Amino acid sequence: MWHFRLCTVQDVAVFLSITLYMWGFAGAISIYSPQRSLTRSVLEDVFFSVDFNCSGNPTIQWTFMSGLVSRDIGTWQPRLYTNITVDYKSRVKPFENGSMALSDLRLQDAGYYVVTVTDPAGSSKDVGFVLKVNEVLFEDLQYLSVSALALAFVASLLMLAMWLLHKACRKIKAWRRRKQMPENDATELQPL
Ligand SMILES: *[C@@H]1O[C@H](CO)[C@@H](O)[C@H](O)[C@H]1NC(C)=O
Ligand SMILES: *[C@@H]1O[C@H](CO)[C@@H](O)[C@H](O)[C@H]1NC(C)=O
Repeated sequence: MWHFRLCTVQDVAVFLSITLYMWGFAGAISIYSPQRSLTRSVLEDVFFSVDFNCSGNPTIQWTFMSGLVSRDIGTWQPRLYTNITVDYKSRVKPFENGSMALSDLRLQDAGYYVVTVTDPAGSSKDVGFVLKVNEVLFEDLQYLSVSALALAFVASLLMLAMWLLHKACRKIKAWRRRKQMPENDATELQPL
């Protein structure tokens, strides 16, 4: 009786572990992402769109890499918790399907973004994105050239006005001097 029971427990345990193993195998993580190479401009937003298939509630982790720098962006578990690092807190929006929105882009945001999906059993899979960030050169240049033109126009107007004033002043002075010379000489000579 005892012996039989022990056997059954053992069998059940073996059966259970095989089932769990198969289940884990069948539920191997897969990550889907429509676009892995993105280009945006400074101050724009970017949406890293992913979706995953995974048994159990996974942990999603995003990491940024550029050159030798590797930075944690955040970790979350759908419907359980969200932990975004302080550097990104104001700019990152996490989604339940693992997607991440990053707003107000800067030049330094260019680089690789890796999302890692880890299932409750501990196995994980990751997918990388490349983000290029362009400077808004065209608009800047347009703005600069327009303001430069406006400034040049105002400056030339001012110069013309000054030149005209100067000329007028000199004419008036000369005319006055010619008219008042004798009087001036008289008044200036008086105190002496
Ligand atoms: C992930 O979810 C967001 C928001 O619900 C959605 O816009 C996006 O398309 C989803 N991504 C994929 C790859 O399904
Ligand atoms: C959130 O992340 C930081 C650093 O990545 C870690 O120190 C902290 O313990 C985490 N908090 C939670 C609630 O997981």
